[in-house]
Amino acid sequence: MSAWSIEAYEKAWQFAALAHKGQTYKGRTPDINYDYITHIGMVTTRVLQGLRATPEANADLALQCALLHDTLEDTPTTYEQLAAEFGRVVADGVLALSKNPDLPRPEQMKDSLARIVQQPKEVWMVKLADRADNLQYVPWNWTAERIANYKIEGQLILDTLKAANALLAQQLAERIKQYGQ
Ligand code: NI
Repeated sequence: MSAWSIEAYEKAWQFAALAHKGQTYKGRTPDINYDYITHIGMVTTRVLQGLRATPEANADLALQCALLHDTLEDTPTTYEQLAAEFGRVVADGVLALSKNPDLPRPEQMKDSLARIVQQPKEVWMVKLADRADNLQYVPWNWTAERIANYKIEGQLILDTLKAANALLAQQLAERIKQYGQ
């Protein structure tokens, strides 16, 4: 894997930590809520591991996009802020990873995937890692239908982006298979 900068990593980590401050997500049972940064940390760690399978990848780009991947979708952060702080290539990657809320819900993932495939492979890797982390467990309040739809959507992500990284693709495939079992 290519060399990467701890300073670039630290800057993105701190930006994300502040942006997501106070946000939580549901655990396996009603008494568990995780700080949102837990998800960010796990996605980034997965990307870091995946980078070993793609030595030619730009590790700084992959890691910064991973750390920032939910800042546009889930926080008041703007594209212009990201571009000013981290450059246009990172901001474009994060934008592609963000759903367009103006579209009907069922079309949002297909639209995001269509924009991700026009981005560098480092951005594809983040989406593979993101969904693998999201499939770690079923949130306690999800219905069987929601679980089934999430697996179908996971398979669409895998089929569309698997060429980016064999290790991340394999891990996502395993998570889809075991989800909800
Ligand atoms: Ni995410």
